[in-house]
Amino acid sequence: MSLEEALQRRAQRIRNIADECAPLWERSKNITFEIGCGKGHYLSAYAASFPEQTCVGIDLISERVRDSRRRAQNKGAQNAFFFKAEAMEFLEAMPRDAVLEKIFIFFPDPWPKERHHRRRLMQGDFLDYIRQFSRAGARMYFRTDYAEYFEWTLNTINQNSNWEIIADNSLPFEEVSQFQRILPDFSTLVAEAV
Ligand SMILES: C[S@@+](CC[C@H](N)C(=O)[O-])C[C@H]1O[C@@H](n2cnc3c(N)ncnc32)[C@H](O)[C@@H]1O
Repeated sequence: MSLEEALQRRAQRIRNIADECAPLWERSKNITFEIGCGKGHYLSAYAASFPEQTCVGIDLISERVRDSRRRAQNKGAQNAFFFKAEAMEFLEAMPRDAVLEKIFIFFPDPWPKERHHRRRLMQGDFLDYIRQFSRAGARMYFRTDYAEYFEWTLNTINQNSNWEIIADNSLPFEEVSQFQRILPDFSTLVAEAV
């Protein structure tokens, strides 16, 4: 596939996400957002506990999105919405006036090999871009079992002027995600939009 074709396909995916999410933005433009939600264990439980919030989870894998929707339905969380989307593509598809009230990123793929580090989600460009949708004081919650990715993220955020690590690294709500169950030895950091 040529670069031009790849870019055209990406642009088409973004248009498709925008179309699919149009009813969501009619409901609310202020959302609680989980990137890489997996099978939706965390966000469906969170949404059931905070029915006044509009909760959106995205994942690259269709089957996980289907599982997430089923899990939310079983919990009666009608305020939880799940979409198959890549993180940057979803952000690009969002209306400019959408607001990410909270951002959850739990056990993201660690890409352990150095030559793959550029594929990691927690990059300076990503932090800059997502900040455009966050008010000052909005919090991003990050959890990983992979110590080197934790240090990488700490350094990446410390070098970024849009986000600041805060001392309180507790989550507003705890629920064991699928990967947390498998990987109980993890670290959490919380960053606040500056
Ligand atoms: C290791 S799993 C963790 C799933 C879940 N957060 C948990 O704790 O059980 C990482 C998930 O992130 C998804 N993912 C990876 N990169 C992504 C991206 N750029 N955008 C959206 N989802 C992504 C993967 O498909 C996978 O389901």
